[in-house]
Amino acid sequence: MEALERIRKLKSQALEDVARARSTAEAEEARIRHLGRSSGLAGMRRSIGTLPPDERREIGREVNLAVREVESALRERLAELAGAELEERLREEAVDVTLPGVPYPKGHLHPTQRIIDEVVDFFVGLGYRVAEGPEVETDYYNFTALNIPPGHPARSMQDTFFLDEGLVLRTHTSPVQVRTMLSQEPPVYVVVPGRVYRRDSDPTHTPMFHQIEGLAVDRGLSLAHLKGTLAAMARHVFGEGVGIRLRPSYFQFTEPSVELDVSCFVCGGADPDCRVCKGAGWLEMLGAGMVDPAVLEEVGYDSEEYTGFAFGMGPDRMAMVKYGIPDLRLFFEGDLRFLRQF
Ligand code: DAH
Repeated sequence: MEALERIRKLKSQALEDVARARSTAEAEEARIRHLGRSSGLAGMRRSIGTLPPDERREIGREVNLAVREVESALRERLAELAGAELEERLREEAVDVTLPGVPYPKGHLHPTQRIIDEVVDFFVGLGYRVAEGPEVETDYYNFTALNIPPGHPARSMQDTFFLDEGLVLRTHTSPVQVRTMLSQEPPVYVVVPGRVYRRDSDPTHTPMFHQIEGLAVDRGLSLAHLKGTLAAMARHVFGEGVGIRLRPSYFQFTEPSVELDVSCFVCGGADPDCRVCKGAGWLEMLGAGMVDPAVLEEVGYDSEEYTGFAFGMGPDRMAMVKYGIPDLRLFFEGDLRFLRQF
């Protein structure tokens, strides 16, 4: 029978093409060519109705068998090719995780920030809370509430940047003492890092610099507590061996007032040419004192019941001393060659 012969041929051509397909795409092409709408097998199927009735059944069965055989060969071939292609892709895209990585530069903490972290960590360890306040401050918090009334000569010592309407760039972090006391009842134990501003520029002064303020208010606090606290802080930052001394001083908002010196941690006072202390043996470190009762009363604390101590230090200056940096302006110029040294 002519039709049967034709089916056999179509089928063997199809199987040959399927077997020859080198990729899933070629296998798909073979499917379209041999099983698609315009393929020979599809045409045979469509023409079954025109055959003499006694041939229809046999020819129909043969066409269906042929189609099924080609389909199953295609399925197998596709599975084979897809597996091989996946393997090939995995091989191409494989990453060798044992190769050394590409190193990328790490950032550095600014020397001032290192000192701030050391000091703040120390006080947090003692149970102090960290507080912050605004850099644009009112005249009242920056001066008046700290016992520096309008017209007082102490104001002109601070080289203030004045803004409009009674506002200033804060000249110190001390106003945060007042803000803290107004926001809570005693006892108070806070440490306050922040930026401050003064109209000043030379190798040891920049218009913006940093301070760390401390304030403790409680029953029975005395100068001895202040001294012990600051001595422990100095040892934490500059090393176990450093000694301290208090010198009498004057600040509007403390009475009595002191300045704290730290023994030179480089030469200990033994070297007259020491680059850090210049032979003095001592380094000025900070201002401090017992909170003036007038300041406690201003915020509504009972100065008969509570006493307090306060201190303010300059972490930029401390970093200059600790790392031997001669010019403060280097700290704020953002020169990476400078910063990378730390
Ligand atoms: N605010 C002072 C200044 O900027 C530093 C200071 C001195 C802060 C004594 C204090 C203190 O808390 O008790 O010069």
